[in-house]
Amino acid sequence: MSVILAIESSCDDTSVAICNNGKITANVIANQTIHENYGGVIPELASRVHQQNIVPTIEQALKNAQVTKQDISAVAFTQGPGLLGSLLVGVSFAKSFALGLNIPLISVNHMHAHILAHFIDEPKPNFPFLCLTVSGGHTQIVLVKDYFDMEIVGETLDDAAGEAFDKTAKILQLPYPGGPLIDKHAKNGNPKAYKFAEPQIADLNFSFSGFKTSILYFIRKQEIENPNFITENLNDICASVQHSIVQILLNKLKKAAKQFNINEIAIAGGVSANSGLRDGLQQTADELGWKVYIPAFQYCTDNAGMIAIAGYQKFSVNDFVGQEVSPKARMEF
Ligand code: KG4
Ligand code: ZN
Repeated sequence: MSVILAIESSCDDTSVAICNNGKITANVIANQTIHENYGGVIPELASRVHQQNIVPTIEQALKNAQVTKQDISAVAFTQGPGLLGSLLVGVSFAKSFALGLNIPLISVNHMHAHILAHFIDEPKPNFPFLCLTVSGGHTQIVLVKDYFDMEIVGETLDDAAGEAFDKTAKILQLPYPGGPLIDKHAKNGNPKAYKFAEPQIADLNFSFSGFKTSILYFIRKQEIENPNFITENLNDICASVQHSIVQILLNKLKKAAKQFNINEIAIAGGVSANSGLRDGLQQTADELGWKVYIPAFQYCTDNAGMIAIAGYQKFSVNDFVGQEVSPKARMEF
């Protein structure tokens, strides 16, 4: 029997979840809207808002799960990777909470947790599987052999896929974070309207910085002829950019699946909320006989539910840390 309270504060969302005997019974997320005014996350502001949000988010999670502090068996928290000031709020809170209640502390790697989100609901993938983790900070293809036995077999050499979405959105004068808005406009556009070259990167690695620059130059060139090019063609531009990013991701995933001879394929991270990626993955799965796994929407973007399920796995093998633990902006995979 276990009740795990989990805290996630690696970037701009404060989230608290409860895992009761392996089931997520609360997953509360307090978003920070203040960053929209700046076109990106401002680390100093993020950590200040985490400080304001953390207590009410914990109280709400306890209420939703119908448990009290005394019911909690252990506290799991995101140790890294992420923004140091943001992580510090969650880590300090988790440590004090565990100390006050005299219960164990569990450290969770945010990138592992994105993948372990697949073990929250049915259907769960079978080991070994491949997971494409695509977020605002990471783009990785991971060979997952067991809950905590994972190997990165491909990753981005520069920008992450989420950044490619967000930076393109900025070029198109859409507010931050632009990924979901590109997705929304793409639904009414033609994905074949404009063609953007696929970066030629060896192995299973990715690169998105040149891709983003090519979009910038394309838009600038079009605007010389038509200053209203963006507003008049927004849906088609979004659909074409989204289509290109999805193709880049899927082509590498196909290569990895072939190389490792694996047909259990999962996606994780904020960009896995993208409808073009979800549809494209399902289509590829139908063609190639893959079994695909996509977490529920609320467990794709940053959330503490994924930290709680990872914490539950660690709790079952008594994998705890001491009070000397500190946040890590960069954390070994
Ligand atoms: O995993 P996540 O919530 O935070 C990080 O750990 O980075 O991912 C956030 C990223 C942002 O870049 C956001 O624009 C992108 O995920 N994103 C999307 C969509 N929803 C979130 N990108 C494209 N389409 C979406 N529907
Ligand atoms: Zn994330």
